[in-house]
Amino acid sequence: MRTRSGTAALAALLVIGLMGGPRASAASAAPVLYEAENATIVNGVVESNHAGYTGTGFVNTANTAGTAVEFTVDAATAGTTTLAFRYANGTSAGRTATLTVNGATQANLPFTSTGSWTAWRSQNASVPLTAGPNTVRVTATTADGLANLDSLTVGADGGGPISDPIPQAPIASGLGLVLTEYAQFPKSDPVPAPTDSRLVRHARINHLSQLPGGRRFVPDLNGKLYTLPPNGGTPATYLDVRAAVGSAFFSGRGLGSGFAFVAFHPDFATNGRFYTTHTEAFGALTSQRPDWTQSSPVIHGVLTEWTATNPAAATFSGTRRQLLRLGFGTYLHGIQQLDFNPGATPGGADHGLLYVSVGDGGRGVSDTSPQNRSVPFGKMLRIDPRGSNSANGRYGIPASNPFVGRPGVLGEIYAVGMRDPHRFSWDRGTGRMFLGHIGEHDIEGVYDVRSGDNLGWSEREGAFVFDRNDPCYLYPLPGDDATFGYDYPVAAYDHDGPPGCTGDLGRAIAGGFVYRTGSVPALRGRYVFGDLVQGWIFYTNETQMVRGGTALAPLHRLKIHNAAGNLVTMKTLAGHDRVDLRFGMDQAGDLYVLSKANGKIWKVTGTLGSAP
Ligand code: GCU
Ligand code: CA
Repeated sequence: MRTRSGTAALAALLVIGLMGGPRASAASAAPVLYEAENATIVNGVVESNHAGYTGTGFVNTANTAGTAVEFTVDAATAGTTTLAFRYANGTSAGRTATLTVNGATQANLPFTSTGSWTAWRSQNASVPLTAGPNTVRVTATTADGLANLDSLTVGADGGGPISDPIPQAPIASGLGLVLTEYAQFPKSDPVPAPTDSRLVRHARINHLSQLPGGRRFVPDLNGKLYTLPPNGGTPATYLDVRAAVGSAFFSGRGLGSGFAFVAFHPDFATNGRFYTTHTEAFGALTSQRPDWTQSSPVIHGVLTEWTATNPAAATFSGTRRQLLRLGFGTYLHGIQQLDFNPGATPGGADHGLLYVSVGDGGRGVSDTSPQNRSVPFGKMLRIDPRGSNSANGRYGIPASNPFVGRPGVLGEIYAVGMRDPHRFSWDRGTGRMFLGHIGEHDIEGVYDVRSGDNLGWSEREGAFVFDRNDPCYLYPLPGDDATFGYDYPVAAYDHDGPPGCTGDLGRAIAGGFVYRTGSVPALRGRYVFGDLVQGWIFYTNETQMVRGGTALAPLHRLKIHNAAGNLVTMKTLAGHDRVDLRFGMDQAGDLYVLSKANGKIWKVTGTLGSAP
């Protein structure tokens, strides 16, 4: 949904054009290949010393700006068509070139590194052609000259980098949420003091859940587990995880570090058990031995079972024991969420099994560990916290897990191939589990996760090929993609900035909930989620999120109103440009919106307007 670049505006026009019915387009003609060695060459020579070219050779221009190759391309009719330049760039820097058609500048094409001079790849662009001959020219803008250029194919994408993977922008909905302030949390501080401004928040609250028939709980990454009165207001401390853990507690580097999540056992009222995950560093890195670790760990993610002596007591007292400890090589993408399936019935197969989403520790971008089933990184795990048949003897491996008994595969694994499996929830209507998965270059995806699924990271990002050597772009799926068995998002949006290469573009999905039984009828049957940085709130219709294939459900962006009914944004409600949005749901099925920026929670108390 990139709209700032000229190419994307063009792509959007093309999509609109196609939706409006058939139109004249040169793209409908069969692709035509033009060899670069037959084109007009400005300050370059034809060579054949690097294998893999087509025709009799490729063009090697001098290493200087202004070198160029000019093709004469015939179009039967006027219309927009795809150009695919086949090239090799054996250096690490891009060899940017200006693309002109009939003298008019169309784009600056990055021609990023292909890794070697014998690795050929396609650089695509979408351009308007006139009927008859057209002059298509690429001119080097850097002092390195052009990449080695093999050919130009007109009318096919050639499998090259995609500049706008999801051209459809979210649909502006006529429906607006009414948010009523519900609770204000006290200020909290990370330890050690942060150096990253994104960690300087009023309170790093990140979830709201309610026990069946009981209290509402909210964790703060900086250490405290709070309870809230039924009608909101002032939180009370139930447990200080930071104080209990002591000097090893660590929440000052990495957006997800600290006391990240809490999940209460479905039988908490009688057994007093609940589970937390938090990060440790300092002395723990040498004194504690992780069950699994990445090389040179900088934090440990710890899974703990707590047993309250009196489950009804207002504050925790009781015992705790460590179930699992993982060493992460960076501060990114650690253990994100823990949860029990609320739809599991007592005595049923899923009852009392704990789902644990484990990020790739920031490593999948450069290695294949998310696909490696002998390590827990980049996986959704499912364990029996009351069992003991795991390697460390502190928890059980459910016999119903998908890979149990396979040699070299961890029985704990429920699903694989994840980068940052950030928030998941179960639809109370259908029982489907929806995961909000935060992407690398571009794709913020909602997945319908089932036992044994493979989300594809880091071979795929969403339904696109991820190339670990390309810091910028995603690529189209190969023809034999089905043989890999990857599972793709059922809804997604993409980052909206200059294509690739710019790091954090300020987009990250905040997974939410399918709304079923809450007090706001207009939301029923809709999965409500958002972008946690921007504070956008989206919905998709649950029935339109269809598993299998690459189709995406239409995504709608909701308006936001304050309790007085005035149109606002989450940025204004949160008083900050970085909202740090999260969602929560209570037992009645009512939805809550959280912001770390000012440490507030709002309840969704109504809607204005109407969908879509
Ligand atoms: C090497 C390579 C050439 C290439 C050149 C360049 O000399 O063999 O094919 O064109 O680098 O940097 O442009
Ligand atoms: Ca050259």
